[in-house]
Amino acid sequence: MKCFECSCRGATIATVIAAALCLALPVLSKEEEFMPNQPDAIPTFLIIGTAKGGTTDLFGQLTAGPVNFDPDRPDPPFPHKSNKELAYLSRTGIDGIKMLPQKQQYMEYLELLGHPCGNAMRGSIFRECFTANATKLFTLDATPTYSFSAVVPLYLRELSGSSKVIMMIREPVERAESLFRHYVVTGTRWSDKHIDDLAIDFFKAINADKGLETALQQAANCSYGDVVCLANSWRDICGFTLMESQENKLFAAGLYNYALAVWRYHYFKPGRVLVMDSHAFFDRRMDAMEKVIRFMYGRPMLPSEQKLAEGVFHHKSTLKSPKMILSPPVRQKLSEFYEQHVIRGLFQTLMDMRDEGAWMFGFNGEPWRACPGFEEFNAAGKSKL
Ligand SMILES: *[C@@H]1O[C@H](CO)[C@@H](O)[C@H](O)[C@H]1NC(C)=O
Ligand SMILES: *[C@@H]1O[C@H](CO)[C@@H](O)[C@H](O)[C@H]1NC(C)=O
Repeated sequence: MKCFECSCRGATIATVIAAALCLALPVLSKEEEFMPNQPDAIPTFLIIGTAKGGTTDLFGQLTAGPVNFDPDRPDPPFPHKSNKELAYLSRTGIDGIKMLPQKQQYMEYLELLGHPCGNAMRGSIFRECFTANATKLFTLDATPTYSFSAVVPLYLRELSGSSKVIMMIREPVERAESLFRHYVVTGTRWSDKHIDDLAIDFFKAINADKGLETALQQAANCSYGDVVCLANSWRDICGFTLMESQENKLFAAGLYNYALAVWRYHYFKPGRVLVMDSHAFFDRRMDAMEKVIRFMYGRPMLPSEQKLAEGVFHHKSTLKSPKMILSPPVRQKLSEFYEQHVIRGLFQTLMDMRDEGAWMFGFNGEPWRACPGFEEFNAAGKSKL
């Protein structure tokens, strides 16, 4: 048993108490339970975000040739060419009716996922194909825009009740800076902007709209455990034009606490969601992948998977010009904003989700130590890693 691995050693009174807690734990909290993957889970797995939280990296760890086509792999592989960032479910024009099994958009999504029945004809041929072939491949959709969508969990629930979901969470200020840098460095946008300008405009946009300001205040007023209140608040916030600009999304997409409530309320199922601390994923890749593999496949890592995880080092970006770094006063304002809307309730959310059967990885080191609920979350120690 690995709980309190460090504090259970030694001989002080505190460790004796910790050891006693160690023994009591299996009674207090259930273990993370592996759930079998269902043939009608479309896709089998989703990595829903957050952008710059390690989603691309994780996608690579799961689909790279040496692990995907390892002859020792006991699980179905992913399609030969898995597409990252399909973002199909968050496209405009997605229609609930067309998303029903065998309808046009459902089939289109299957095809994009590389599902073995993606180009099967309608009716009995589709059913036959499904019976014969659906379990021959796993499918994976890794799209960082799903995490903050107020409608994707609803579409997904309609088309697939038992997909497994991985959500990665990175400290929101750092995430915003990293994503800004990503866009600038890749030449996608904002080459002539300072990140401060975008942040200042974001706050201006909030202040300019009384309705939006009230909606945010209502969200902040929800009690931490009130999923319905949090989810409805996020739905309301997403209705404002704020979320229509990439500039504002850079910051608004970091409001995990509200966005996750929508997923919790409409989609998450016990044993079918893993919440991953991006920082721990970057720093402790082997432990992280061990957890991911157990969550997804219910088995230990294969040597090929270990080898792939070993070879990864997270490079902190050195390509930083002053315009990519928040100035102290703007950083302060943004930190306070996230403090109010995310950090204050984050660990309560994680604890509640864990009680609801979500798997967890990390959240037991920096940058989280000062967060309210950190000690409590980690004292309960259900997460083994
Ligand atoms: C199952 O897939 C194979 C190709 O992988 C195909 O030849 C076969 O027709 C499919 N079965 C059905 C019932 O569609
Ligand atoms: C939020 O709570 C504060 C303090 O209880 C209250 O004064 C305020 O009216 C509430 N705002 C909204 C929008 O619910």
